[in-house]
Amino acid sequence: MVQLTLPQNSKIDKQAGKFFKAPADAKNIKKVEVYRYDPEDVEQKNPHIDTFEVDMDKCGPMVLDILIKIKGEQDSSLTFRRSCREGICGSCSMNIDGTNTLACTKPISDCSSTIKIYPLPHMPVIKDLVSDLTHFYDQYKSVKPWLQAEESTSGKERLQSPEEREKLDGLYECILCACCSTSCPSYWWNGDKYLGPATLLQAYRFIADSRDEATDERLDALEDPFKLYRCHTIMNCTNTCPKGLNPAKAIGKIKQMIADRKA
Ligand code: SF4
Ligand code: SF4
Ligand code: FES
Repeated sequence: MVQLTLPQNSKIDKQAGKFFKAPADAKNIKKVEVYRYDPEDVEQKNPHIDTFEVDMDKCGPMVLDILIKIKGEQDSSLTFRRSCREGICGSCSMNIDGTNTLACTKPISDCSSTIKIYPLPHMPVIKDLVSDLTHFYDQYKSVKPWLQAEESTSGKERLQSPEEREKLDGLYECILCACCSTSCPSYWWNGDKYLGPATLLQAYRFIADSRDEATDERLDALEDPFKLYRCHTIMNCTNTCPKGLNPAKAIGKIKQMIADRKA
């Protein structure tokens, strides 16, 4: 039988969790379990789970509202990312009730009776719900996510037909939240070399753009057993994307283009 060794400090310390009670006058209480970890706290070797009772009569409708309320009223040390509060910036991605999603667009009414909130899986944790996305962004940078084209000599903008522009639908909407990549088993095991669904969807976004002139170079760079071909079409990425995008389809299109140019 395969024996997996868990990374140091990855085990939850079941004794260390704290309980935060709702105010005495609260009538509509929701329990929320939140992953807590501070690598810089010398007394806290392992993560633990804190439980908060939240007064839902004085809380907004989304999971992010709960986190903001907890931080404002019960524990100011709770750490998470957020900015736009409307599913645009991608910064509040986390694992809620076992699914990677955006806290700001996840309705509390869709959650279980005790909401369980963890950081994105299989990523190093900076603190509490904040994952370290340095490697993820380095991979994004590696696919040169900008238009590559000769300097325009006409002095005019580069035009696209409606049909050419339509090819970017389902691609340009990606907000780089990393929900897909961190739900992909291939990325969990080979994330050092496999680019993962988010970066590959972004790579295809420029390959599919009629204004880009570096298609061959882009495909050359992706034709690699690890960077691209670790995708085994498991589809977790597409099932989890909070923007309803289909990274697995984009990956399939890149593979098809590489196969076609060999034919
Ligand atoms: S494809 Fe979807 S899940 Fe993946 S990074 Fe983009 S928006 Fe997030
Ligand atoms: S389809 Fe590919 S990228 Fe998406 S989860 Fe599966 S292996 Fe990962
Ligand atoms: S806060 Fe911007 S996507 Fe959630």
